[in-house]
Amino acid sequence: MEWTTSELRQSRGVIEHYGEYLPISSSTPIVSLGEGNTPLVYCPRLSKRAGRGCEVFVKNEGVNPTGSFKDRGMTVAVSKAMEYGANALICASTGNTSASAAAYAARAGILSIVILPAGKIATGKLVQAFAYGAKIVAIDGNFDDALRIVRELGDGHEFVIVNSINPDRIAGQKTAAFEIVDVLGDAPDFHLLPVGNAGNITAYWAGYREYQAQQRSTRLPAMIGFQAAGTAPIFYNRCVEKPETIASAIRIGNPASWKQARAAIAESRGAIDVVSDQEILAAQSWLARHEGIFVEPASAAAIAGFFKCCDSDEAAYSFEKIPEASRIVCTVTGHGLKDPDAITQRMKELKPVAATVNDVRRAIGL
Ligand code: F0G
Repeated sequence: MEWTTSELRQSRGVIEHYGEYLPISSSTPIVSLGEGNTPLVYCPRLSKRAGRGCEVFVKNEGVNPTGSFKDRGMTVAVSKAMEYGANALICASTGNTSASAAAYAARAGILSIVILPAGKIATGKLVQAFAYGAKIVAIDGNFDDALRIVRELGDGHEFVIVNSINPDRIAGQKTAAFEIVDVLGDAPDFHLLPVGNAGNITAYWAGYREYQAQQRSTRLPAMIGFQAAGTAPIFYNRCVEKPETIASAIRIGNPASWKQARAAIAESRGAIDVVSDQEILAAQSWLARHEGIFVEPASAAAIAGFFKCCDSDEAAYSFEKIPEASRIVCTVTGHGLKDPDAITQRMKELKPVAATVNDVRRAIGL
């Protein structure tokens, strides 16, 4: 069968679904891998932690084509780059942007160049960049250094920058807010998410506002962002020279969309807060074991943050007195398999036993 008719070409993807809200025209060649339409999972055990009849949902962005939310923005950024006649894409990355850029560039048939902090990228993400055929340059520096270099190289118009400083990326990413409203019937009361370079919180806020302006929703959520304590420039209100955290995806000391994130938090009457590496790892494990959702450490920052809002006197935003039956959405941004190092440590406990039913019964503890 010939796959040439438009119905057969692409039945899914954020441009297909939300094109009227995106900077797309009939002359934009659509580069899509079927991203978006990710599950908004109702989580009974998280809801119980919040109490007061609240409902907690996890927006699982880890099930996008390359395993992170970046694909939503990348389909738009790469489609637009092709419309402009680009020959190559370039990005700095803590891992996920590079995986996504490399995949969409491969799909479009153009070169992707990714600049990464050497030795600081989670295994699964680096594997992806190699698999999709990116030109990879590792630098002796951090993400902020990589982005500075990319900005300079992008100035020459040789490359299209596909970091979230590219407005087409933000446009694509705002579709996650649309999807949440479309499923819930209105915006939630609270939206929690991890913050690194601060593009995603900017995009969600733009999406919620746009949908409200179009009368697709009646309210706006309070946006609550979480940074890792060792790399929390927005929380501390100063650049962090040597950002450190187990959540390598958000190891960023000078976020590009700092101002926009501040505006989203202020306008939505939300908050910015910090969570420790220990809290992040505990939340990662809790979510996998209690709700069946395995996410990378940076994503678990949103869940650690949720627990902090529920339980801690020190939380920047307390859920102690939130209205009954509030709806809370936590975005988990990337799949757990991308960054398995913390879990593989535990696999050392696995010792083989003899291949008999009795030995296996004993090992199970029966
Ligand atoms: N979660 C994950 C899994 C990420 O990869 C990132 C950012 C964030 C959260 C934070 O999102 O930057 O929009 O505030 N990763 C970028 C990258 C920086 O290069 O992959 P943000």
